Amino acid sequence: MTAMSTPVRIAPSILSADFGHLHDDVRAVAAAGADWIHVDVMDGHFVPNLTIGPLVVAAARKACDLPFDVHLMIAHPDAYAAAFRDAGADLITVHAETCPHLHRTLQVVRATGAKVGVSLNPHSPLNPLEHILDEVDLVLLMTVNPGFGGQKFIRGVLPKIRKLREMIRARGLTVDISVDGGINSATVFEAAAAGANVFVAGSAVFGAPDYGDAIAELRALALSGVETSKAAPVGA
Ligand code: DX5
Ligand code: ZN
Repeated sequence: MTAMSTPVRIAPSILSADFGHLHDDVRAVAAAGADWIHVDVMDGHFVPNLTIGPLVVAAARKACDLPFDVHLMIAHPDAYAAAFRDAGADLITVHAETCPHLHRTLQVVRATGAKVGVSLNPHSPLNPLEHILDEVDLVLLMTVNPGFGGQKFIRGVLPKIRKLREMIRARGLTVDISVDGGINSATVFEAAAAGANVFVAGSAVFGAPDYGDAIAELRALALSGVETSKAAPVGA
């Protein structure tokens, strides 16, 4: 809906943190003004990389009180949703591509008590959302192919962001649109202007000399992009 109901959130992805000092790094981005902590869970099957399980989420969780935004890039997310919730996830996002019974999976996540997100790869059309959009709190549109940090933003996803924001507006829903991959000071404005309001950033935050400056710069650019999007005529 409006930018009032879907406020701008900057969510540093701990994929680019120093895992030897994860607790300190999570604390540092929280102190530097992050809104959410984004956690990339990969299974080496749905995506070609292996990362974080519930034990690591539980450990990182102790570093701050911010919402933990857990992005499951794994097959069979139904089997793990409760474990990630128990570990401290506040929002759990599953990939539509991994869920033959997506509606059921969303109910499984909802039943854990976590907020519910659904994600789409860059090539995936919005169709799977058509009949489940009112079941989710957030849609995460991948702006790189999932698996690794530090990749280049795929601009071809911009029209999909615009179309989704239009769908959400038309239905009078309050659903966050998160963008994930290649978000930095050169891309965040365009993503926001297209209708995104949650900005996941790994390398742009953890690779910066000063986390606070990096988050503040992303937020300022995102806010001006959101203003542009509000000013755009419906259907533009
Ligand atoms: C990619 C992950 C992203 C990644 C973003 O599979 O979902 O969250 O960490 O990293 P950057 O911001 O470096 O592209
Ligand atoms: Zn992610």
